[in-house]
Amino acid sequence: MARLFGIVFALAWTLTYAVPFNTFDGEGFPGCHNVSKVYDPTTVNEMVAIVQRAASSSTPVRASGKGHMWYDTMCSDDPATIIIRTENVNRITNFSLPPGAADGSVMIEAGVTFVQLAEYLHVNGASVGYTLVNWNITLAGSIAMGVHRSSLREDSMVTAGALELHIIDGSGNLRIIKRDEGNDEWLAASTSLGLLGVIARIKFKIYPDFKVYAKQETLSEDKVLNGDIYGMISPYATANFWWWPYLRKFHYRYYDPVPRNISDQEGFQSTFSVTKTEANIALGLLNSGKYFPTSNIAAEALFFGLWSPPNFREKSSDQAILTWPVYGWNYDVLIGGLYPGYGTEWDYGLRGLTLELAFPVTMANAVLKRVRKAFDDELKKGIVMTSTYRSGINIKFGKAYFDLLGQVTYNTADGVDWSKGAIMFDFPSFKTTVGDGLRFNEPFCRLLSLLTALSPFIFRTR
Ligand SMILES: Cc1cc2nc3c(=O)[nH]c(=O)nc-3n(C[C@H](O)[C@H](O)[C@H](O)COP(=O)(O)OP(=O)(O)OC[C@H]3O[C@@H](n4cnc5c(N)ncnc54)[C@H](O)[C@@H]3O)c2cc1C
Ligand SMILES: *[C@@H]1O[C@H](CO)[C@@H](O)[C@H](O)[C@H]1NC(C)=O
Ligand SMILES: *[C@@H]1O[C@H](CO)[C@@H](O)[C@H](O)[C@H]1NC(C)=O
Ligand SMILES: *[C@@H]1O[C@H](CO)[C@@H](O)[C@H](O)[C@H]1NC(C)=O
Ligand SMILES: *[C@@H]1O[C@H](CO)[C@@H](O)[C@H](O)[C@H]1NC(C)=O
Repeated sequence: MARLFGIVFALAWTLTYAVPFNTFDGEGFPGCHNVSKVYDPTTVNEMVAIVQRAASSSTPVRASGKGHMWYDTMCSDDPATIIIRTENVNRITNFSLPPGAADGSVMIEAGVTFVQLAEYLHVNGASVGYTLVNWNITLAGSIAMGVHRSSLREDSMVTAGALELHIIDGSGNLRIIKRDEGNDEWLAASTSLGLLGVIARIKFKIYPDFKVYAKQETLSEDKVLNGDIYGMISPYATANFWWWPYLRKFHYRYYDPVPRNISDQEGFQSTFSVTKTEANIALGLLNSGKYFPTSNIAAEALFFGLWSPPNFREKSSDQAILTWPVYGWNYDVLIGGLYPGYGTEWDYGLRGLTLELAFPVTMANAVLKRVRKAFDDELKKGIVMTSTYRSGINIKFGKAYFDLLGQVTYNTADGVDWSKGAIMFDFPSFKTTVGDGLRFNEPFCRLLSLLTALSPFIFRTR
């Protein structure tokens, strides 16, 4: 009987059809081109059982959180691949932060998102400090990918907050790997790219809740390109630049903790909230920018104008906050989410592609100047480069954090000094929905010219 069951099961397994598994962007934006089945388990035990069955038939398995990745790098393109969607495995347990303690811990399951954890912790007077990023994505997916916030002063890799990783290995055994910088197993698991198995649970470090301020200044391009970039970013708990290449300006954003009683303001940040009308205006302008550069110029000017005042509202009243600095609870200010009644850009058809390159922060000026030259070289050909992303070109930073595959690791074989941290040049560009669907100046966006320009800086090997 067991044998017969096995055969029936194997047949059912192979007869399923191969379908794409899409990213958050939906149809036409596959994370995997061809998978045979997507599972939605609700418990860790179910995930273990799925992996054990898959292991017995040598079926490739990948986990997925919120599908918030940008590209189709998640699968090996074997159409037998199955996906374990972790969304419904999302319990938070074993909260521990004794009164007066400097830190504590909480146990979270694979599908727990930042929004969910932040709300839970805030109610309990706690936070994850700076080991957070971009909202509606899972902590497990973030740890798998070495995701990070922007800081040279604080540990801001999400994985820096992990105390234990409970991973279902390729044979379906649940293994507990504890933080230990002297152990290669930990250093591999710390940023695994999801290749060591399904991260089922994470014991995560927490801190007493705290308030922060956010402030932003507009700088001329020269102040950054020829400025002390390390000196501008490293003093703050988190800081970044947004670059407006047509206007030749930067937005300089920084955050730091403040005493609780400094203000009653409860600022709530939103990066992605748009109304349908705003999205349609942006879509019209950016699509027309494929053919008429003046539309891209108008779009950059519009976005710059929208991004200069605070992108914050008062949480208690939903009123716009008009002046810097903005105060509020750490997650609300550092990340935030969606304003009530608003959608995201991708809900309304605004989609982009990006390419992110990391360099030692010691090269920050040289890299940005070389990118400026690449833009100027386009201009000499009559091609005006602008930011087609609503918040500008994203320049982030990362404090060095040692593990085997992380983006901000150090002691690499290239012999270059990564110990002061990294600058990440993240160049998102609008994907048009007209004609051939390519971006404005697509060859440049594919970074053919930019990569060539930057090749002297790209020699990272491990
Ligand atoms: C608009 C946008 C802005 C972004 N901004 C930032 C940013 O500022 N900083 C930054 O660092 N990143 C940023 N990202 C990238 C994003 O943080 C990562 O793609 C993150 O991995 C998404 O998490 P997820 O839960 O959606 O995982 P998914 O997209 O579902 O999965 C990502 C990868 O992790 C693996 N994985 C997922 N869950 C598990 C698990 N439980 N066990 C093992 N492997 C798993 C998957 O197999 C896949 O390879 C951004 C992405 C977008 C689209
Ligand atoms: C997906 O897999 C099926 C079955 O193996 C195959 O026929 C099809 O060509 C594949 N599609 C893509 C896009 O790879
Ligand atoms: C939570 O803590 C209890 C008591 O220490 C322990 O028995 C249990 O296994 C923990 N739960 C998880 C999910 O680790
Ligand atoms: C997060 O994603 C889920 C679906 O995956 C959705 O139901 C929920 O509304 C999202 N939350 C936010 C704040 O966007
Ligand atoms: C905030 O509280 C501290 C003590 O906790 C006190 O010294 C300070 O004066 C207070 N500040 C304001 C603005 O009330």
